[in-house]
Amino acid sequence: MIEMIFEKAFGATPQMCLFTPGRVNLIGEHTDYNGGRVLPTAIGLGLDIALSPRDDDTIVIHSNKFDELSTRSLSDTAQDIWSDYAAGAIIFANKSGLMKSGANIAITTSLPFGAGLSSSAAVIVGILKAARELSNSSLSDTEIAVLARRVENEFIGMPCGIMDQMAVAIARPGQALALDTKSLSYDLVDLPEDYHMAVIHSGHFRQLSEGRYKIRKEECDVAKAFFGHNDLCLLSDEDLAMSSGLPNAIQKRTRHCVSEHRRTVEAVNAIIADDIDRFGQLMIESHNSMRDDFEITLPEIDLLVSDAVTLGAKGARMTGGGFGGCIVACVPTADMQAWQEKLLSRHSKAFFVC
Ligand code: GLA
Repeated sequence: MIEMIFEKAFGATPQMCLFTPGRVNLIGEHTDYNGGRVLPTAIGLGLDIALSPRDDDTIVIHSNKFDELSTRSLSDTAQDIWSDYAAGAIIFANKSGLMKSGANIAITTSLPFGAGLSSSAAVIVGILKAARELSNSSLSDTEIAVLARRVENEFIGMPCGIMDQMAVAIARPGQALALDTKSLSYDLVDLPEDYHMAVIHSGHFRQLSEGRYKIRKEECDVAKAFFGHNDLCLLSDEDLAMSSGLPNAIQKRTRHCVSEHRRTVEAVNAIIADDIDRFGQLMIESHNSMRDDFEITLPEIDLLVSDAVTLGAKGARMTGGGFGGCIVACVPTADMQAWQEKLLSRHSKAFFVC
């Protein structure tokens, strides 16, 4: 399918085709730029990418979401348009020696836009992996993820952490990536087979580059400077007790980072011990912390989460950067259909993603 789309757009067979999944984070939000743990898993939806290098500096990008081809160049800077992610990936593939030219690229995506399911990380990681295959490079998936984060941080100007890139580069559906974002060491943890990690879009769309993510990151930077510690998530209770000199909002952001990191460590242990009640409880506590301490939820999403639990999920929480997007709920597989129907009938804007 992606081959045919590429051939139609560019009149030639692509040299490389691959699939990159989206991700949903089960717990561990806004911990990945604060030295803490995260627990994302890959979802079945994602991006197909087809790519051929060109013999000039031009980058031409076709996407099933946009009518027009986008033509960019290796000397481009970001222009705040959809093709920035693909263009940035090719530019950084050239900077790092994975490629020596522009490229023709076709992308088809099944990920809803603005859902917080890491479509931008999937575009960048997918293109970098295609470039790796074509150049027979020995870069590891972790090194690809680190390079992909540089595209976001340095080219796009989005100060994100490393979770999304690591998740889409390494995680698989059915397994969660228990990642230490400080050392980048990780374990793949099997998810319980009789539960579904349901992803429901709230109907409120978001864009990280809007600036609110940056504000939270800057608030964490204020706390890091105060404590003289780059890893906010790893502060001790004694450290926290000394935070009274900080503005109330910064104290709350810090408290979220510390508690969310600890919940994530416990959540991994709960999954391994097959204690899904505890795992669900930790998801609920995580949502409450995002609502009350990190202050990144919306009232409509708080209601969606509490209804998800009332209707039978073991736990539920908003997932991703915040201010809209999706919730994730841990639902007994046998109850999925009825649960979903009841939840969506209460929330007219919400829709099932996977
Ligand atoms: C976005 C960022 C990630 C992470 C999450 C919040 O998805 O890209 O790096 O910070 O928000 O957990």
